[in-house]
Amino acid sequence: MGKKVVTLAYGCQMSERDAGTLTEITRQLGYTSSDELQTADLVIVNTCCVRESAENKILGKIGELKKLKEKNPNLKIAISGCMVQQPGALERLQKRAPHVDIWAGTHNLHDFSVLLERAEQGGKVAEVWQEPKKAIESTPLAEKGKLQANVNIMYGCDNFCSYCIVPHVRGRERSRHPEEIIQEINYLVANGCREVTLLGQNVNSYGKEFSPAYDFADLLRDVDQIPHLLRIRYITSHPKDLSDKLIETVAQGEKLCEHFHLPIQSGSNFILERMNRKYTREYYLSRVERIRRLLPQASLTTDIIVGFPGESEEDFEQTLAMMDSVHYSQAFTFMYSKRSGTLAANMEDQIPLDVKKRRLQRLMSEQNQKSLEWRQQMIGKTYEVLVEGPSKTNPQRLTGRTRGNELVVFSGNPEIIGSLVNVRIVEAGSWTLVGDIERP
Ligand code: 5AD
Ligand code: SF4
Repeated sequence: MGKKVVTLAYGCQMSERDAGTLTEITRQLGYTSSDELQTADLVIVNTCCVRESAENKILGKIGELKKLKEKNPNLKIAISGCMVQQPGALERLQKRAPHVDIWAGTHNLHDFSVLLERAEQGGKVAEVWQEPKKAIESTPLAEKGKLQANVNIMYGCDNFCSYCIVPHVRGRERSRHPEEIIQEINYLVANGCREVTLLGQNVNSYGKEFSPAYDFADLLRDVDQIPHLLRIRYITSHPKDLSDKLIETVAQGEKLCEHFHLPIQSGSNFILERMNRKYTREYYLSRVERIRRLLPQASLTTDIIVGFPGESEEDFEQTLAMMDSVHYSQAFTFMYSKRSGTLAANMEDQIPLDVKKRRLQRLMSEQNQKSLEWRQQMIGKTYEVLVEGPSKTNPQRLTGRTRGNELVVFSGNPEIIGSLVNVRIVEAGSWTLVGDIERP
């Protein structure tokens, strides 16, 4: 019997993709991927440090693994990713979790096989590079029959939003060459993939180092030509870099989904400036207007932080007002979390926890109402849906997503999994939509 690896992924899609890379590296060394911790020979925890709550959850998990190791002393434990990459974090973590065998940062994940081989010979291994040393590469992951895949188009971030740890743990922006990206997508499609999500911390600044010029809209236009691929999504777009050319490209594209994830973070110009977001609420609204003019059906989603240092009731009201004017189909809402090493961590006027909680509650309940209204206006209309598989809540039915990324449940023959169908929406539930397939 070969050895078994369990990979636990925390954090964003980039982190999830990294976890996939780690699993693939171990597969090439003879490991089989598994979900069962009790029988694992290797457990990899790929971490996130975007908020304190994420870190606490992961620290709890690492603590639990200690018991597992006591039962099975041959078990190897590897902790990798953003949390480990934070300046000064490694020593602190090593002290706290001496039962861990391998520590790796974000920049040396591609060398994981070397670390694992060293750990298998006995002894502890810890390696965190301060900067990425290798040319950009990607380990292609093609699980046969997997309909959806995430593809890195760039790494890192140059924006330094004052609350955000990402530039400190993922380095400066580096774009992958378009030929390499297209080659990876062709490989995925040959293995059954029908939908790709192009990943970057700020996809709108893709290719800014390229000469001759080739930007994100150019990449989208080229990926749109790939045969047998049905859909293209991408995240995340920084509003300051959302060009007219990009919106026009999405409008003209065949497979480019009309969904814009545009994190606003705050609706107050005062707070946006302190966050170093480099746009105003007026500019943001002008971008939304441009999208709605060209693509009236487009879905907009966002990220919002409440309780950023210095946020007054009035600033918060402006965030609520913004939510009202934009009509997001979905919003991911967070309480500000102090991240050591970022500018905002040293700002005065930190907001007390009870105020943050109250604001978050209010924001969430308003957004739930807005999301429901968004789904209700879809009733009676027909949408193109990519059929993903049986519904998790009711396996007798099928589920899939609209181009706007709304989840729909409907009845149909499982043979249509992986194809596009037209679904007429008949009901809007609190989280999903219910529809009927329209016969051609
Ligand atoms: N506190 C709270 N939320 C944060 N985010 C990033 N950093 C922080 C922080 N320090 C949120 C932002 C970002 C999303 C991925 O996480 O809204 O868009
Ligand atoms: Fe992703 Fe940021 Fe979390 Fe790293 S810290 S996993 S980049 S969300």
